[in-house]
Amino acid sequence: EAKSCSALLLFGATGDLARRKLLPSLFALHEDGLINQGLRIVGTARSEMDDAAYRDMARAALDEFLPDDRKNADAITGFLERLYYQPLDASTIKGFDALAQKLGDISDGLAIFLSTAPFLFEPTIKGLASAGLTGEQVRIGLEKPLGNDLESSAAINDAVASVFSEDQIFRIDHYLGKETVQNLMALRFANMMFEPLWDAGEIDHVQITVSETVGLEGRHGFYNDTGALRDMVQNHMLQLLALTAMEPPADLDAASVRDEKVKVLRSLRPVRNSEMVRGQYGSGAIGGESVESYADDLGEVSDTETFVAIKAHIDNWRWQGVPFYLRTGKRLAERRSEIVIQFKCVPHNIFAARGGKLNANRLVIRLQPEEYVRLQVMAKQPGMDREAVVLREVPLDLSLTQAFAKARRRIAYERLLLDLIDGDPTLFVRRDEVEAQWRWIDDIRAQWAQSGEAPKAYGSGSWGPSAGIALTERDGVSWNE
Ligand code: BG6
Repeated sequence: EAKSCSALLLFGATGDLARRKLLPSLFALHEDGLINQGLRIVGTARSEMDDAAYRDMARAALDEFLPDDRKNADAITGFLERLYYQPLDASTIKGFDALAQKLGDISDGLAIFLSTAPFLFEPTIKGLASAGLTGEQVRIGLEKPLGNDLESSAAINDAVASVFSEDQIFRIDHYLGKETVQNLMALRFANMMFEPLWDAGEIDHVQITVSETVGLEGRHGFYNDTGALRDMVQNHMLQLLALTAMEPPADLDAASVRDEKVKVLRSLRPVRNSEMVRGQYGSGAIGGESVESYADDLGEVSDTETFVAIKAHIDNWRWQGVPFYLRTGKRLAERRSEIVIQFKCVPHNIFAARGGKLNANRLVIRLQPEEYVRLQVMAKQPGMDREAVVLREVPLDLSLTQAFAKARRRIAYERLLLDLIDGDPTLFVRRDEVEAQWRWIDDIRAQWAQSGEAPKAYGSGSWGPSAGIALTERDGVSWNE
């Protein structure tokens, strides 16, 4: 049953995120009857256009980004009737009254989705306040980038906090909207067999990989000012780490889960310079097609990193001595997000005298592009030879795609927009989490600045610079390939 909400106000309504993800997501919520009939969606951006022109733009976006089998013409027409548009220059408060007028009655609630350039946060918040769009019935979702270090992120958070209370603020990390990421909690806390083994006693190390094959994708200015550390590690990867490492929350509510995550984030040990690697892609080939180097993509030489690998440590009882190896990068060999839990070896190998070699168990949680949980276990290869026992590693395989074959694969934003509209903050990031994330990241960047080293080159289509491989190899560990 859809809760009711008067309107959704979409900043950046003509932008890339809106066209690719937000409009298709909202359409899906509409089609599935998950948002109440009366909910109006009001888009706003700088461009001058009227409702009809915005609906045309939205129709074109749906046509481009919805899969063919989901283009139900009647449903699309019904959806477009919910859309309205109001042009706005958010840098001055002048236009906000007209925006409020366009929104009309918001007594049943207003959900705001704010994705904007960092310098527009403050004026936008002031404008909303001046037009009376900040009452108790208002919730605001904030899309990254929310600053680029602790200080600038605190400034944005302060500006937002001057008119909204923390429970009205929904900081978006779209990884938390992914089903497979939520499944991490189900795997850990809905099963008896993992949690008792989930600590330094049994686990040797953890690997978190988020690799991409895409390069800059036209986001030159933004990406070059940001780099892989802030684009991916500060948010998505640290959230994955926190969900993997946190203590069992007492309950699934927002406070319990976020309390546990923030404890992990605060336990992150500052990283030593020798435990991290920065890289930047050179030319190479992706899927058989040759691609240009970062500098050629960008059109200038730059020392922004497009790859980072870090050996992280969590200083608490559960994880003492267990490295968390993180790596992410653009133009790598494969698109893949996964968490690998590498268990320790059994204490004593009774097969050794008969030639039986053991590998330690490895649990692979693949988040994308495939969705599966795979446990590598040792088994005896069939054979009659008593003196020579051959052991083989075989997978115990759970394909989530197959197990839930009927379920449509949703865009992460479907869940997040629905939660924003309904006012459920569990899958959003609380201020203390973001700040703990930034503290750790700022320290890393300070060390990079001090060392002044340029990022190491790697070929497009590879797994990153050789130093990224050496980072684990010198501990006797290989990245999961
Ligand atoms: C975004 C980053 O937050 O996440 C992008 O800004 C990156 O650079 C994207 O490509 C990856 O998201 P996903 O859902 O495709 O793994």
